[in-house]
Amino acid sequence: MTTNESSYKADALIAEDIDAYLVQHQHKSLLRFITCGSVDDGKSTLIGRLLYDSKMIFEDQLAALEADSKRVGTQGQEIDFALLVDGLAAEREQGITIDVAYRFFATDKRKFIVADTPGHEQYTRNMVTGASTADLAVILIDARKGVLTQTRRHSYLAHLIGIRNIVLAVNKMDLIDYDQAQYEAIVEDYRVFATSIGIEDFVAMPISGFKGDNITGPSPNTPWYKGPALIEHLETVELDVTTDQAKPFRMPVQWVNRPNLDFRGFSGLVATGTVKPGDAVRVLPSGKTSTVSRIVTMDGDLDQAVAGQSVTICLADEVDCSRGDVLSIADTPPQAADQFEATIVWMADEEMLPGRPYWLKLGTQTVTANIQAPKYQVNVNTMEHLAAKTLDLNAIGVANLSTDRQLVFEPYEQDRDLGGFILIDKLTNATVAAGMLHFSLRRAQNVHWQALDISRDAHSNLKNQKPAVLWFTGLSGAGKSTIANLVEKKLHRMNRHTFLLDGDNVRHGLNKDLGFTDADRVENIRRVGEVAKLMTDAGLIVITAFISPFRQERQMVRDMMKSGEFLEVHIDTPLAEAEARDVKGLYKKARSGELANFTGIDSPYEAPTNPEIRIDTTKMTPEQAADLIVEELLK
Ligand code: ADX
Repeated sequence: MTTNESSYKADALIAEDIDAYLVQHQHKSLLRFITCGSVDDGKSTLIGRLLYDSKMIFEDQLAALEADSKRVGTQGQEIDFALLVDGLAAEREQGITIDVAYRFFATDKRKFIVADTPGHEQYTRNMVTGASTADLAVILIDARKGVLTQTRRHSYLAHLIGIRNIVLAVNKMDLIDYDQAQYEAIVEDYRVFATSIGIEDFVAMPISGFKGDNITGPSPNTPWYKGPALIEHLETVELDVTTDQAKPFRMPVQWVNRPNLDFRGFSGLVATGTVKPGDAVRVLPSGKTSTVSRIVTMDGDLDQAVAGQSVTICLADEVDCSRGDVLSIADTPPQAADQFEATIVWMADEEMLPGRPYWLKLGTQTVTANIQAPKYQVNVNTMEHLAAKTLDLNAIGVANLSTDRQLVFEPYEQDRDLGGFILIDKLTNATVAAGMLHFSLRRAQNVHWQALDISRDAHSNLKNQKPAVLWFTGLSGAGKSTIANLVEKKLHRMNRHTFLLDGDNVRHGLNKDLGFTDADRVENIRRVGEVAKLMTDAGLIVITAFISPFRQERQMVRDMMKSGEFLEVHIDTPLAEAEARDVKGLYKKARSGELANFTGIDSPYEAPTNPEIRIDTTKMTPEQAADLIVEELLK
């Protein structure tokens, strides 16, 4: 059997047996932990050793392992534990661990899930993924090397993610002859660093994953070490078991259960606390209160539901409550807000675009969020705060963000479930970031909508017209400005109140701080969208002529407008044609390399898939195009 086959088989076996296994150990408490270390720190060996010593290796897995070890050769040792863990072929080839692997094992006292997270510099996102549910982190250090940059990085990330139990495992003690002074110097080094980033406490231990020192019991090689062995510590470390049940009652509503007019219940998983019929509850974000009348399950009504149970809750009053709302105990509700400060861990290859709308998912709530340019980025190697305009793959930064609806939340420090979120790209549906909410911005609470007596309708009635936005999009030189100008003249002659916002003009004033990077174009369109919206509120017919190359921002502006008031006009001129005309000589400059980020040349243009109006400029004159657009607008 080859190595790959054996590890494949082992994984399949693990998956099959997990259920039976969890049942067998269901009365034991569960500790989730992560191991962090670099490629050479001996992490895989350590995990393999933990699995082996807890007898959690299936028999044929073991046989395969022995065969592999013989084949690969392991410095005279019988079994190479690292082979057990390094399951992925790619890891083996590159010599690095590239994804999060979860392993299950148990001892007499406790069961464990260990997330083996990669140590390689590029894989912050995997570490964040693996750590997000962990109770404890084992930070591995190679005793010969001491505290390294990656030790600092892993500790920072573990702490950032909210892990409060840290084990500093100084590994490979056998290779420094179990030298106490050297061990203590490393621990002291780490203590200084740990304190500086707010880690209040950690447990240090001298171990050898390879030889087994201080793994299951005290090692004769370190008589000076009086602390627990690794497994002992993992078995006995106090878990915050009170957490979920002791916290105030919260249940994000998964769906509204309304089989008929006589029954209306709110179904979901009780996230924290307990709830009983008769309890006063509050629906968030609306803040409406009611009383629990029944707690319904498949097996009948309950007198009480606790964290971890899936139930349907009925309320005594007809209050509005829908999917994504949170049911909470009435007197200590979570907060609700639409502007926040947050830490963001960027996980996508494409950089973050401040101003672009992303889906923000927090538990069952999904809203649209705009992230502002970062206040700073954290250099995770030095903990320095750096100025940053955006965040790249694996970058961690702090930024303000706003959401289109109120979000029910708690600061991440207090509640990982109601404070942790992910960001999703609206087009590709890929997860692009993970984040942690710090607090809501005070301005979100203090800035209210002012009710105005002269309404939007009053404005448009006086002008005797329906407000609208004619949103022109197309390549540079496609003819947007020319046609837009003709459209405005025609409407003006018809006594319509119009305003033309043109790319080149707006970039001389409101947007003169913006260039042509993706991020700047996003911000350009966001601002123009806001201005166009205000102008429609004033009752105007707004014509905009911007390249507006990205679908997502055009969609964002569309979403800001009332339905039917946004007409996307694609001025469709093939690149070759626009380039041949080259009215401003910019294509020539772009081709010669004098002008960077030019649309169509080295910056993308995403054509509309479903515009209200499409103008093929190779088939009609600007006059004809303008007539067609006016006709479409007024019909
Ligand atoms: S957008 O992409 O952000 O929507 P906008 O319409 O405001 O662009 O500005 C485009 C105009 O700026 C072009 O018509 C052209 O005159 C000028 N321009 C200067 N540099 C560039 C560039 N690198 N890419 C595109 N247009 C540019």
